[in-house]
Amino acid sequence: MSTAAATAAPFDPTALSDALPLPLYLQLARHLRTLIVEGRLTDQDALPGERELAETFGVSRVTVRKALRELIAEGLLHQRQGAGTFINRSPHVEQRLSTLTSFTEDIGGRGLKPDSRWLSRSAGTATPEEAMALGLRPGAEVVRLHRLRLADGTPLAIELSALPASFLPDPELVQGSLYETLRGRGHPPFRALQRLSAIRLPADQAALLGVPDGAPALYIERRTFLENGTPLEFVRSHYRGDAYDFVVELSLA
Ligand code: GLP
Repeated sequence: MSTAAATAAPFDPTALSDALPLPLYLQLARHLRTLIVEGRLTDQDALPGERELAETFGVSRVTVRKALRELIAEGLLHQRQGAGTFINRSPHVEQRLSTLTSFTEDIGGRGLKPDSRWLSRSAGTATPEEAMALGLRPGAEVVRLHRLRLADGTPLAIELSALPASFLPDPELVQGSLYETLRGRGHPPFRALQRLSAIRLPADQAALLGVPDGAPALYIERRTFLENGTPLEFVRSHYRGDAYDFVVELSLA
Protein backbone atom coordinates (compact mmCIF):
# COMPACT_ATOMS: atom_id res chain seq x y z
CA MET A 1 0.00 0.00 0.00
CA SER A 2 1.37 3.39 -0.87
CA THR A 3 0.43 6.53 0.99
CA ALA A 4 -1.46 9.50 -0.41
CA ALA A 5 1.83 11.32 -1.02
CA ALA A 6 3.23 8.43 -3.02
CA THR A 7 -0.01 7.98 -4.97
CA ALA A 8 -0.31 11.67 -5.81
CA ALA A 9 3.30 11.87 -7.01
CA PRO A 10 3.92 11.12 -10.67
CA PHE A 11 5.88 7.97 -9.89
CA ASP A 12 5.86 5.45 -12.69
CA PRO A 13 6.85 1.93 -11.64
CA THR A 14 6.98 0.89 -15.31
CA ALA A 15 10.04 3.15 -15.71
CA LEU A 16 11.98 0.31 -14.05
CA SER A 17 12.54 -3.01 -15.72
CA ASP A 18 14.64 -6.08 -14.98
CA ALA A 19 15.16 -6.36 -18.72
CA LEU A 20 17.18 -3.15 -18.96
CA PRO A 21 20.99 -3.44 -18.81
CA LEU A 22 21.16 -0.90 -15.96
CA PRO A 23 21.05 -1.79 -12.26
CA LEU A 24 17.63 -1.16 -10.74
CA TYR A 25 18.94 1.45 -8.32
CA LEU A 26 20.33 3.49 -11.22
CA GLN A 27 17.03 3.13 -13.10
CA LEU A 28 15.21 4.39 -10.02
CA ALA A 29 17.70 7.22 -9.58
CA ARG A 30 17.23 8.16 -13.24
CA HIS A 31 13.45 8.19 -12.89
CA LEU A 32 13.49 10.31 -9.73
CA ARG A 33 16.08 12.64 -11.27
CA THR A 34 13.85 13.22 -14.29
CA LEU A 35 10.87 14.01 -12.06
CA ILE A 36 12.93 16.45 -9.99
CA VAL A 37 14.63 18.16 -12.92
CA GLU A 38 11.35 18.50 -14.83
CA GLY A 39 9.84 20.13 -11.77
CA ARG A 40 7.23 17.42 -11.33
CA LEU A 41 8.07 16.94 -7.68
CA THR A 42 8.45 20.58 -6.71
CA ASP A 43 5.16 20.76 -4.84
CA GLN A 44 6.40 18.20 -2.41
CA ASP A 45 9.16 19.04 -0.02
CA ALA A 46 9.72 15.49 1.13
CA LEU A 47 9.87 12.23 -0.75
CA PRO A 48 7.84 9.34 0.59
CA GLY A 49 9.76 7.09 2.97
CA GLU A 50 12.04 4.30 1.79
CA ARG A 51 9.48 1.62 2.52
CA GLU A 52 6.78 3.41 0.53
CA LEU A 53 9.10 4.02 -2.39
CA ALA A 54 10.16 0.37 -2.32
CA GLU A 55 6.51 -0.72 -2.42
CA THR A 56 5.59 1.80 -5.13
CA PHE A 57 8.39 0.64 -7.41
CA GLY A 58 8.37 -3.03 -6.41
CA VAL A 59 12.04 -2.98 -5.42
CA SER A 60 13.93 -3.65 -2.20
CA ARG A 61 14.65 -0.95 0.35
CA VAL A 62 18.35 -1.45 -0.35
CA THR A 63 17.72 -0.48 -3.97
CA VAL A 64 15.79 2.62 -2.87
CA ARG A 65 18.54 3.58 -0.44
CA LYS A 66 21.22 3.24 -3.14
CA ALA A 67 19.15 5.31 -5.58
CA LEU A 68 18.62 8.06 -3.00
CA ARG A 69 22.33 8.02 -2.20
CA GLU A 70 23.08 8.71 -5.88
CA LEU A 71 20.76 11.72 -5.92
CA ILE A 72 22.09 13.02 -2.63
CA ALA A 73 25.61 12.82 -4.08
CA GLU A 74 24.39 14.82 -7.10
CA GLY A 75 22.94 17.48 -4.79
CA LEU A 76 19.34 16.89 -5.88
CA LEU A 77 18.24 15.52 -2.49
CA HIS A 78 19.26 15.80 1.13
CA GLN A 79 18.30 13.82 4.18
CA ARG A 80 17.53 15.13 7.62
CA GLN A 81 17.97 12.73 10.50
CA GLY A 82 14.58 11.35 11.51
CA ALA A 83 12.71 13.74 9.19
CA GLY A 84 13.09 12.15 5.76
CA THR A 85 14.46 12.85 2.30
CA PHE A 86 13.94 16.32 0.85
CA ILE A 87 14.26 17.81 -2.59
CA ASN A 88 16.94 20.48 -2.81
CA ARG A 89 15.69 23.55 -4.51
CA SER A 90 19.14 24.97 -5.17
CA PRO A 91 20.14 22.67 -8.07
CA HIS A 92 17.10 23.96 -9.91
CA VAL A 93 18.54 27.45 -9.96
CA GLU A 94 20.88 26.68 -12.79
CA GLN A 95 18.06 25.13 -14.76
CA ARG A 96 15.85 28.09 -14.05
CA LEU A 97 18.52 30.54 -15.04
CA SER A 98 19.34 28.67 -18.19
CA THR A 99 18.08 31.24 -20.64
CA LEU A 100 14.37 31.43 -20.45
CA THR A 101 14.17 34.14 -23.06
CA SER A 102 11.49 35.71 -25.16
CA PHE A 103 11.50 35.92 -28.92
CA THR A 104 12.20 39.64 -28.61
CA GLU A 105 15.27 38.96 -26.48
CA ASP A 106 16.48 36.06 -28.68
CA ILE A 107 16.32 38.07 -31.84
CA GLY A 108 17.46 41.37 -30.35
CA GLY A 109 20.44 39.53 -28.86
CA ARG A 110 21.53 38.55 -32.37
CA GLY A 111 21.50 42.14 -33.50
CA LEU A 112 18.33 41.66 -35.56
CA LYS A 113 15.09 43.61 -35.29
CA PRO A 114 12.30 41.55 -33.70
CA ASP A 115 8.78 42.12 -34.93
CA SER A 116 5.35 40.49 -34.81
CA ARG A 117 2.37 40.37 -37.10
CA TRP A 118 -0.91 39.57 -35.43
CA LEU A 119 -2.75 36.62 -36.93
CA SER A 120 -5.46 36.86 -34.28
CA ARG A 121 -6.01 37.71 -30.65
CA SER A 122 -8.98 36.65 -28.64
CA ALA A 123 -10.40 35.77 -25.26
CA GLY A 124 -12.48 32.66 -24.65
CA THR A 125 -12.96 29.42 -22.83
CA ALA A 126 -9.94 27.13 -22.50
CA THR A 127 -9.98 24.06 -24.71
CA PRO A 128 -9.43 20.78 -22.84
CA GLU A 129 -5.79 20.76 -24.04
CA GLU A 130 -5.20 24.32 -22.84
CA ALA A 131 -6.98 23.70 -19.53
CA MET A 132 -4.78 20.67 -18.90
CA ALA A 133 -1.56 22.44 -19.90
CA LEU A 134 -2.40 25.47 -17.77
CA GLY A 135 -3.84 23.55 -14.83
CA LEU A 136 -7.20 25.33 -15.23
CA ARG A 137 -10.69 24.13 -14.46
CA PRO A 138 -12.86 23.35 -17.50
CA GLY A 139 -14.61 26.51 -18.59
CA ALA A 140 -11.86 28.82 -17.31
CA GLU A 141 -11.15 31.94 -19.35
CA VAL A 142 -7.99 32.23 -21.42
CA VAL A 143 -6.51 34.81 -23.71
CA ARG A 144 -4.96 33.69 -27.00
CA LEU A 145 -2.28 35.47 -28.97
CA HIS A 146 -1.56 34.18 -32.43
CA ARG A 147 1.47 35.84 -33.92
CA LEU A 148 3.81 35.59 -36.85
CA ARG A 149 7.26 36.39 -35.48
CA LEU A 150 9.79 38.11 -37.68
CA ALA A 151 13.45 39.01 -37.54
CA ASP A 152 14.58 41.90 -39.75
CA GLY A 153 11.31 41.46 -41.63
CA THR A 154 11.81 37.73 -42.29
CA PRO A 155 9.13 35.44 -40.85
CA LEU A 156 10.73 32.90 -38.53
CA ALA A 157 7.96 31.41 -36.45
CA ILE A 158 4.24 31.19 -35.83
CA GLU A 159 3.29 31.21 -32.18
CA LEU A 160 -0.06 30.55 -30.55
CA SER A 161 0.10 31.47 -26.87
CA ALA A 162 -2.70 30.81 -24.41
CA LEU A 163 -2.65 32.44 -20.98
CA PRO A 164 -5.08 32.35 -18.07
CA ALA A 165 -7.20 35.50 -18.21
CA SER A 166 -6.37 35.98 -14.54
CA PHE A 167 -2.83 36.93 -15.60
CA LEU A 168 -3.64 38.68 -18.85
CA PRO A 169 -7.26 39.84 -18.88
CA ASP A 170 -7.14 41.47 -22.32
CA PRO A 171 -5.06 40.42 -25.35
CA GLU A 172 -4.87 44.08 -26.43
CA LEU A 173 -2.55 44.67 -23.47
CA VAL A 174 0.24 43.07 -25.48
CA GLN A 175 1.66 45.55 -27.92
CA GLY A 176 5.26 44.36 -28.28
CA SER A 177 6.84 41.66 -26.15
CA LEU A 178 4.48 39.37 -24.25
CA TYR A 179 7.12 38.67 -21.60
CA GLU A 180 7.74 42.37 -21.06
CA THR A 181 3.99 42.88 -20.66
CA LEU A 182 3.80 40.04 -18.13
CA ARG A 183 6.78 41.38 -16.18
CA GLY A 184 5.19 44.81 -16.17
CA ARG A 185 2.01 43.31 -14.71
CA GLY A 186 3.94 41.58 -11.93
CA HIS A 187 3.79 38.07 -13.44
CA PRO A 188 7.35 37.46 -14.63
CA PRO A 189 7.94 34.17 -16.46
CA PHE A 190 10.31 32.18 -14.27
CA ARG A 191 10.73 28.68 -15.66
CA ALA A 192 9.60 26.78 -18.72
CA LEU A 193 9.33 23.26 -19.98
CA GLN A 194 9.76 22.89 -23.69
CA ARG A 195 9.21 20.01 -26.05
CA LEU A 196 10.51 20.04 -29.62
CA SER A 197 9.66 17.78 -32.51
CA ALA A 198 10.44 17.81 -36.21
CA ILE A 199 7.53 18.25 -38.59
CA ARG A 200 6.70 19.24 -42.15
CA LEU A 201 4.76 22.46 -42.47
CA PRO A 202 1.19 22.31 -43.75
CA ALA A 203 0.40 24.61 -46.68
CA ASP A 204 -1.18 27.48 -44.70
CA GLN A 205 1.68 27.75 -42.26
CA ALA A 206 4.30 27.30 -44.98
CA ALA A 207 2.72 30.22 -46.83
CA LEU A 208 2.86 32.44 -43.73
CA LEU A 209 6.51 31.56 -43.20
CA GLY A 210 7.34 32.03 -46.88
CA VAL A 211 8.66 28.50 -47.43
CA PRO A 212 7.48 25.69 -49.72
CA ASP A 213 4.65 23.36 -48.64
CA GLY A 214 6.01 20.52 -46.56
CA ALA A 215 9.19 22.39 -45.64
CA PRO A 216 10.82 21.06 -42.47
CA ALA A 217 10.08 22.91 -39.24
CA LEU A 218 10.30 22.51 -35.51
CA TYR A 219 7.09 22.22 -33.59
CA ILE A 220 7.68 23.54 -30.09
CA GLU A 221 5.40 23.41 -27.11
CA ARG A 222 6.33 25.51 -24.13
CA ARG A 223 4.71 25.67 -20.74
CA THR A 224 5.95 28.63 -18.76
CA PHE A 225 5.53 28.97 -15.02
CA LEU A 226 5.63 31.65 -12.38
CA GLU A 227 8.17 31.31 -9.59
CA ASN A 228 5.54 29.66 -7.40
CA GLY A 229 4.99 26.97 -10.03
CA THR A 230 1.67 28.28 -11.36
CA PRO A 231 1.37 27.76 -15.14
CA LEU A 232 1.46 31.10 -16.92
CA GLU A 233 1.43 30.33 -20.62
CA PHE A 234 1.00 27.44 -23.02
CA VAL A 235 2.56 28.07 -26.39
CA ARG A 236 2.41 26.05 -29.57
CA SER A 237 4.95 27.29 -32.09
CA HIS A 238 6.17 26.39 -35.55
CA TYR A 239 9.71 27.51 -36.21
CA ARG A 240 11.24 27.46 -39.67
CA GLY A 241 13.73 24.63 -39.73
CA ASP A 242 16.12 26.48 -41.99
CA ALA A 243 16.25 29.76 -40.11
CA TYR A 244 16.48 29.05 -36.41
CA ASP A 245 19.19 27.30 -34.38
CA PHE A 246 18.61 25.93 -30.97
CA VAL A 247 21.76 25.68 -28.91
CA VAL A 248 21.84 23.50 -25.85
CA GLU A 249 24.65 23.33 -23.36
CA LEU A 250 25.32 19.78 -22.23
CA SER A 251 27.32 18.74 -19.23
CA LEU A 252 28.28 15.40 -17.75
CA ALA A 253 25.47 13.99 -15.62
C1 GLP B 1 9.48 32.73 -27.30
C2 GLP B 1 8.79 31.54 -26.71
C3 GLP B 1 7.31 31.76 -26.49
C4 GLP B 1 7.03 33.07 -25.79
C5 GLP B 1 7.71 34.19 -26.55
C6 GLP B 1 7.50 35.53 -25.90
O1 GLP B 1 9.23 32.83 -28.64
N1 GLP B 1 8.98 30.36 -27.54
O2 GLP B 1 6.83 30.71 -25.69
O3 GLP B 1 5.65 33.31 -25.73
O4 GLP B 1 9.08 33.94 -26.65
O5 GLP B 1 8.11 36.46 -26.74
P1 GLP B 1 7.87 38.01 -26.68
O6 GLP B 1 8.09 38.42 -25.25
O7 GLP B 1 8.86 38.58 -27.62
O8 GLP B 1 6.44 38.26 -27.08
